[in-house]
Amino acid sequence: MRDAFRAAFGSVPDGVWSAPGRVNLIGEHTDYNGGLAMPFGIDRRTRVAVRLRDDARIRVATDFVEEGIAFGVIESTLDTASEASGWSRYLLGAAHVLRRELGVEGSGFEALVSSDVPVGVGVSSSAALESATIVALDELWGTGLDRREMVRLGQLVENEVVGAPTGTLDQSAVLLAERDHAVLLDFPADTAEQVPLGFEAAQLEILVIDSLVRHDHATGGYGERRRECERAAEIAGVSTLREINAADVDAWADRMPAHVHRRMRHVVTDTERARRVAELVRQGRAREIGPILTDGHASQRDDFENSVPAIDAAVDAAVAAGALGARMTGGGFGGAAIALVDVTEASRIARETADAVVAAGHVRPVIFSVHPSEGARRDP
Ligand code: GLA
Repeated sequence: MRDAFRAAFGSVPDGVWSAPGRVNLIGEHTDYNGGLAMPFGIDRRTRVAVRLRDDARIRVATDFVEEGIAFGVIESTLDTASEASGWSRYLLGAAHVLRRELGVEGSGFEALVSSDVPVGVGVSSSAALESATIVALDELWGTGLDRREMVRLGQLVENEVVGAPTGTLDQSAVLLAERDHAVLLDFPADTAEQVPLGFEAAQLEILVIDSLVRHDHATGGYGERRRECERAAEIAGVSTLREINAADVDAWADRMPAHVHRRMRHVVTDTERARRVAELVRQGRAREIGPILTDGHASQRDDFENSVPAIDAAVDAAVAAGALGARMTGGGFGGAAIALVDVTEASRIARETADAVVAAGHVRPVIFSVHPSEGARRDP
């Protein structure tokens, strides 16, 4: 990384900071509805090498090949950082939001980004880049932010600079993750509990099954789902869907449009599922969470209607091949499924899943395993 930095900018960076992608185990579209979710950081990271300048210029480059971006330097300044486009807006947007929200002057910098977090898969490549940038600038500009404040600033980058009306799940996961743990996030109470996953001892592994169907939360169905959830809350007279008990969901069925009711049912039941998964994992019973994950998928497919046929096929195929459970992870409308598998069965299940998805008429998915890893940090 330091050599590549020297090749791009002809100097040595002040340091390298990194942040992981994330997988959400359970609790989808619950964040902006005040529910529960249980993500973990993965062992794929975005690294940002940074050197402060003594003027207001910003120069950024990447050796990130996933998007086919050529190695070249993008020029900006502290004052024009909010006008960035493409991949660089996550980085420049973070600089812009930090200055505006904290009222700090900051100084220009050079930054080189390198990443093995796949883009458009639903494992938060964008939150990884924002968060790695925020921890880097926090240290270099001396802003002394705590992690929660960083989460809020990362969300502002998405909402205001990128234009995606997302919640705080991704930034919370990426900034609060700990090795071998999931974080149980409780959005209204704004608490985060570290839950040891014990996957290694239980011989469990998570496979990510990338459908190669791409999504974009700034332009896709994400915003529409969010509005439908707000409509459900408005009709039910609550400030967030968290206030609806699972036992009361059915009673609302004939008091709102059927599709709005289905959105409500998904959000309420997925929070319930997150609660049950957390309980089982805390008791060292991670092997038993599979059916809850698979139920969560059915809820996204049928009630939230944010899945796509290639992902439904992947979930069915993984379960048929012997996965303990499987579901789409992330915002949906494309992206990936996850499958909980026994380590000794992982490669067979991956192969059979990919074959079955192809046999069902979809593109052959890319499948890789992930391990719960540490959150954003300064690299040694
Ligand atoms: C995306 C968003 C998150 C969250 C998930 C769905 O990842 O960025 O805020 O809403 O979708 O759970």
